[in-house]
Amino acid sequence: MQTVKSSAELELPADKDSAEYTARILKDVNEIVDLNTGKSGRLIRVLQQSQERVGYLPPEVLTAISQVMKVPISEVNGVVSFYNFFTTVPKGKYVLQVCLGTACYVRGGQRILDIMKKDYHLEPGDTTPDGVLSLETVRCLGACALAPVATLNGQVHRRVKPTGIKELVSRLR
Ligand code: FES
Repeated sequence: MQTVKSSAELELPADKDSAEYTARILKDVNEIVDLNTGKSGRLIRVLQQSQERVGYLPPEVLTAISQVMKVPISEVNGVVSFYNFFTTVPKGKYVLQVCLGTACYVRGGQRILDIMKKDYHLEPGDTTPDGVLSLETVRCLGACALAPVATLNGQVHRRVKPTGIKELVSRLR
């Protein structure tokens, strides 16, 4: 069975204007489209897997998907903007997700966001200028008993206190 490569395996040419870069994107998109032939929700699957591979969905990837799948670019852009798990901007090396579901909100989730804003100048959706950290919010991670909950690159941190979040962020490089 074929599997989709993770973003860690992706090595795109640095020059985005080069023919090599465009060819590589088209090759990857063709491969992903082929893997999803005949499956339902094909466009969403292709977008998800392309994002996994590239890390985000730059315009050139969206154009390639539109061309290969013969779907209008307006439809591709519409799907990307409808679902908040798609991103058209690169994320940081670390992604901090703060839960703002009800349990986490009442137990301090908002205070974590306040600290991220005050001390690190990050709003949800922002990435630090050095590309180290991106901040996101989520609605319930299914661990309400451990509220407030945050994840860092998928690793769950429970009962996060303001001092704890500062300590966590200070260790990132
Ligand atoms: S509300 Fe945060 S984990 Fe459920």
